[in-house]
Amino acid sequence: MSYQLTSEVKQFLQELPKCEHHLHLEGTLEPELLFKLAKRNNIEFPQWFPKDIESCNVRYSQFKDLQDFLDHYYIGMSVLITEEDFYDLAIAYFEKAHKDNCHHSEVFFDPQGHLERGIDVKHVVEGFNRACKDANTKFGTTNKLIMCLLRHLPPKDCLDTVKLTAPFFEQGIVHGLGLDSSEVPNHPELFTESYEYLQNKYPHVGFTAHAGEEGDHTYVSKSLDHLNVTRIDHGINSHQNDELMERLAKEEILLSICPLSNVKLQVVEHVGQLPIDKFFEKNIPFSINSDDPAYFGGYILDNYLEVHRHFGFSVEDWGKIAINGIKGSWCDDARKDHLQKQVLDIVKKFQHIEIV
Ligand code: HPA
Ligand code: ZN
Repeated sequence: MSYQLTSEVKQFLQELPKCEHHLHLEGTLEPELLFKLAKRNNIEFPQWFPKDIESCNVRYSQFKDLQDFLDHYYIGMSVLITEEDFYDLAIAYFEKAHKDNCHHSEVFFDPQGHLERGIDVKHVVEGFNRACKDANTKFGTTNKLIMCLLRHLPPKDCLDTVKLTAPFFEQGIVHGLGLDSSEVPNHPELFTESYEYLQNKYPHVGFTAHAGEEGDHTYVSKSLDHLNVTRIDHGINSHQNDELMERLAKEEILLSICPLSNVKLQVVEHVGQLPIDKFFEKNIPFSINSDDPAYFGGYILDNYLEVHRHFGFSVEDWGKIAINGIKGSWCDDARKDHLQKQVLDIVKKFQHIEIV
C-alpha cells in the first residue's frame, strides 16, 4: 500500500511542529564537512575508507548492517578535534532541523569515541553546548544533550566515563544518559552500574537506551528492568512480544523510531514493513527520527514523508503522533504546553486535506 505525497500533505508535514529524540550529532557529519575537517586537522583515513565525497555517498548507500555503518561512523569521528569542530558540526544540524520545523531536539553524542583518541571531553561538551545555546538564540529551538555509552566497550570503561562527566550532569549541561553502538551481544544489564550511579546522584537526569534495533524484544524488556529507562531508542522488535507491547502502552514508554535508518541498515526492506501501525493502534507512544542523517540520506522531515507514504496517517493521527512526541520529551511543562498549542494550530489549519 502506498499513499500519495501530495503538495498539501508535504506542506502539512513540513509545517507540523516536530520533536527529535534520536539523533547522533556525530551522525550528522556530512561528507563535505568530513573532508573539510580532515584537511583542517591533518587527519588521514585508513586505506579502505572512501577517498572523496562522491565515493562516500556511494558507500553510505550500501551498508550491510549496523556494524558496517559503525565502522565508517567511528572513522568519520576522527576528524573532530577542537571545540570549534564540535560546534560547527552541531550548529549545522540545528539549522537543518529548524528548516524542517523541528522545534525541540534531544541529541546524542559519544564521548568515548573522542576520549579514546585523546580529546578532552570538555571540548566536546562545550562545543555542543555552545551550539545548543546559539540555536536557541538564532532559531528559537530548544535542545538537550544526551550522553551515550558505547556498549562494545567494557562496562568499567563506561562507568569511568560516567564518573568523569558527572559534573556536566550536575550542572544540567548534559541532560540524559543513553546506550548505543553494537547492540548484539552487548546486553543492557552489563551497564546497570553506570545507570544506577547517575540515578542515585541526579534524579533529574533522563534515561534511555538503544534496544530492539537488531536485538530481539528481550533487549527492550531488559533495558526497562535493569536500566530503569523511561524511553527506548528504536524498540521496533518490541512487536515480537504481546506482553511487552502492553507494558510499553501502560507505562507510556516512548519509542524513538528511525525509519530510514532501519532501511539503510537492512533491518527491514522498506518502511512499510515497520510495525508503526501496530504501535499506533496499541497506543504505544513513538516519535519519528533521523538517527544518523548524514549516513542514512535523510533528515527528520524525510523520515516523516516516508512514513506517510507507507502508512497514510490522517492529519488528526499525525497530530496525535506529534503530541506524543512532545509528552515524551524532557523539556519543562511550559515548553510542552507551548509546543502542543502549535501542533493543534497546524492540525486545524490542515484538517481539510485529503489523504489518498
Ligand atoms: N544504533 C546503535 N549505535 C549507533 C547508532 C544506531 O542506530 N547510531 C550511532 N550509533
Ligand atoms: Zn541511534
